[in-house]
Amino acid sequence: MKVLVTGGLGFIGSHTVVELQNKGFEVVIIDDLSNSSEEVLNGIVAITGKKPEFEKLDLKEKSKVEDFFKKHTDISGVIHFAASKAVGESVEKPLLYYENNISTLVYILKELSKKDKASFIFSSSCTVYGQADKMPITEDAPVKTAESPYGNTKQIGEEIISETCKVTPTLNAIALRYFNPMGAHPSAEIGELPIGVPQNLVPFITQTGIGMRKELSVFGGDYPTTDGTCIRDYIHVVDLAKAHVIALQRLLEEKNNANYEVFNLGTGTGSSVLEAIKSFEKVSGKKLNYKIVDRRPGDITAAYASTDKANNVLGWKAASTLDEAMKSAWDWEQKIRK
Ligand code: WQD
Repeated sequence: MKVLVTGGLGFIGSHTVVELQNKGFEVVIIDDLSNSSEEVLNGIVAITGKKPEFEKLDLKEKSKVEDFFKKHTDISGVIHFAASKAVGESVEKPLLYYENNISTLVYILKELSKKDKASFIFSSSCTVYGQADKMPITEDAPVKTAESPYGNTKQIGEEIISETCKVTPTLNAIALRYFNPMGAHPSAEIGELPIGVPQNLVPFITQTGIGMRKELSVFGGDYPTTDGTCIRDYIHVVDLAKAHVIALQRLLEEKNNANYEVFNLGTGTGSSVLEAIKSFEKVSGKKLNYKIVDRRPGDITAAYASTDKANNVLGWKAASTLDEAMKSAWDWEQKIRK
């Protein structure tokens, strides 16, 4: 079975390629290398011993997408990661986000709609819920007005897929709403490679721990939570990757209940920023330099997943704890800074 992974050299994409190969899938990667490097292929080979096919391609070029699918007629499934994902950047450059995240999705769906049967996994995000009213967050929680163009592209993406599936019975799709991905493969051969100053908490923590950053700014200590800092559901990227393979197999084996389904991917446990810091200090044995500063605009107070649907319907459950995920992030940071 040949599977296309777009954005397959990125953080979650590369970990998913490894898990696909572990399950015997033949993988083709498309990546435009705008936020990744071809070096990641070596990391994948170091883990699985199998080199995926790779094509550097900008999915915004419609004719290139058409040519790709003409060349690869035997693709049975697509896992679509390729998108811009920096919340702050999306506020400054909305059109870049709408063009890159929406037009590419449309071009891929147009190609898949031509096939006798197609399975499609979409990389979505808990950001579609905004600040949910109830915790843990279930899949039927209302989708709220997005806090950023990035979040809006995920909401629009889900609508595009849902409406396309309604009129395309041969297209079967699953949207996976990630909570907060973190960590790295236990081999430390692949992991998160933020370009420039990390926007996300965990890479900023490990870069501070290794001495690349002077101190971590904790954005807000006055939230209505146990310790005043925001709560998130931090999920190990390998757990997340495994969920993608299970979701794809669900479609390929026609076990889906409808031709468009949505699943939250989280651990079901919320952790505060200070608890994440404590986890780092525990697994690294190092004291972390941090300072509590003003809140970051657009941040929500709390988000953690209800895992019932993923556990009972999808048949997947996150295996790693926050400490295990944090240890893998720290091992990776130490490896790449050697
Ligand atoms: C987590 C917590 C910050 C950095 C976003 C997107 C989501 C996904 C992941 C792409 C928050 C605090 C952070 C720092 C801090 N995006 N923080 N100091 O904002 O929950 O989710 O990134 O895939 O769709 O919405 O993740 O890691 O930026 O922040 O205090 O230097 O850490 O305030 O409470 P977030 P994050």
